[in-house]
Amino acid sequence: MQNHPPEPFRIKMIEPIHLIPRAEREAAMKQAGYNLFALSAENVYIDLLTDSGTGAMSQSQWAAMMEGDESYAGARSFYRLKESVRDIFGFEYFVPTHQGRAAENILSAILVKPNCYIPSNMHFDTTDANIRARGGRPTNLVIKEAFDISVHHPFKGNMDIPELRKFIQEVGAKNIPFGCITITNNAGGGQPVSLENIQQVSENYHEFGIPFFIDACRYAENCYFIKQREEQYKSKSILEIAREIFLLADGAFMSAKKDAIVNIGGFLAMRDEDLYQNVCKELILREGFPTYGGLAGRDLDAIAVGLREGLDEEYLSYRINQTAYLAESVKIAGIPVIEPPGGHAIYIDAGGLLPHIPQMDFPGQALSAALYLEGGIRGVEMGSVMFAHPDPDTGEVISPKLELVRLAIPRRVYTQSHLDYVVSILQSIYQKRDALRGYRITYAPELLRHFTARFEPL
Ligand code: F0G
Repeated sequence: MQNHPPEPFRIKMIEPIHLIPRAEREAAMKQAGYNLFALSAENVYIDLLTDSGTGAMSQSQWAAMMEGDESYAGARSFYRLKESVRDIFGFEYFVPTHQGRAAENILSAILVKPNCYIPSNMHFDTTDANIRARGGRPTNLVIKEAFDISVHHPFKGNMDIPELRKFIQEVGAKNIPFGCITITNNAGGGQPVSLENIQQVSENYHEFGIPFFIDACRYAENCYFIKQREEQYKSKSILEIAREIFLLADGAFMSAKKDAIVNIGGFLAMRDEDLYQNVCKELILREGFPTYGGLAGRDLDAIAVGLREGLDEEYLSYRINQTAYLAESVKIAGIPVIEPPGGHAIYIDAGGLLPHIPQMDFPGQALSAALYLEGGIRGVEMGSVMFAHPDPDTGEVISPKLELVRLAIPRRVYTQSHLDYVVSILQSIYQKRDALRGYRITYAPELLRHFTARFEPL
């Protein structure tokens, strides 16, 4: 009870959900080409596909939406969001975008040149793809502990500083138009990055004159971990920690669909005025006028309020402990997960759970299909389907180090009994794990193939 605080809210509006019968789940999966992204959400019982845009907004956010100013230019909503962004992140310039990847696209369109390198701890798939789409080479330099699922490191999202220095010297700073870090590190288990590490990353980029951008989707969860695990920040507020982080950076891009607890939206923020001018040109071409960036005024207001709610310590304590509760419970059921659990999701080691399924037969796909067939639960494969890609020089397929299935927890949506149900389904999958079989891809596009690939059971 003490470790897992109850929800710091009560439910005022409900959305019914249903578990359709097994035979219908089987038919739905077949029709979807065994790709969970292709299912009708109506046929899903507990949807843990993503924590992105799936959160429940608060009464204050809904109230703020009623005040949305829908003026094409200079809307009051824009200035309210600008004030939240300035107060928390401290950047002089910012533009709203319709979601995180739009901000990544704009930044990449302006700064990424063919064959340049963009280092990070780990790029998320959309960042990775936006850089590749412009001919760049995203490079992941997370600490090696990130790949050992049972090692208890408090900040498994940290960047490997000696590797980063070596990398910059090898490829040359002039070939690195900007450097990144993702907080928390979604592609590596939702693991936090320490403030000490962010400081070192910033120092190293800046020593070589490389601008530093933070992928800030889950920055509030990251700040909560810093407060819990980094001694000198114990008595700081979450807001103070956030301000310290962003003071170290030249800019940030954020999908507001995560820690700003809205259903759509994002932004790109920066200090450099010239860059801002170029961003505005690109934004007008692709997203919209710089004071709305592809969003409605009411969306901007929901983000302005949500950014502040996402920093609330009582909420963050409930949120992070809800994830820890799910991780502890599935571990008791024999299911291996990345430890310690991250902020927004648990990451099941499908490769470890299903050692009889080789990497090329997609153990993560096998487990995520089983979760749906057994219990109507939708998670997401984060292994070879999502991350394997051909080497740009040799064409040889490079596979990720881990075959994971992520169960992401939408913010303020599911209760503890929903999570207990998920645990019970994983228990029954564990009992019959030896009978699970791999999958074969029958169709896949080149970039971001996990969204639309089709499969066949082996
Ligand atoms: N960066 C990170 C770390 C993310 O997790 C995401 C999205 C994005 C960027 C892109 O943001 O979706 O608003 O365009 N992650 C979602 C997920 C899709 O399920 O983890 P977006």
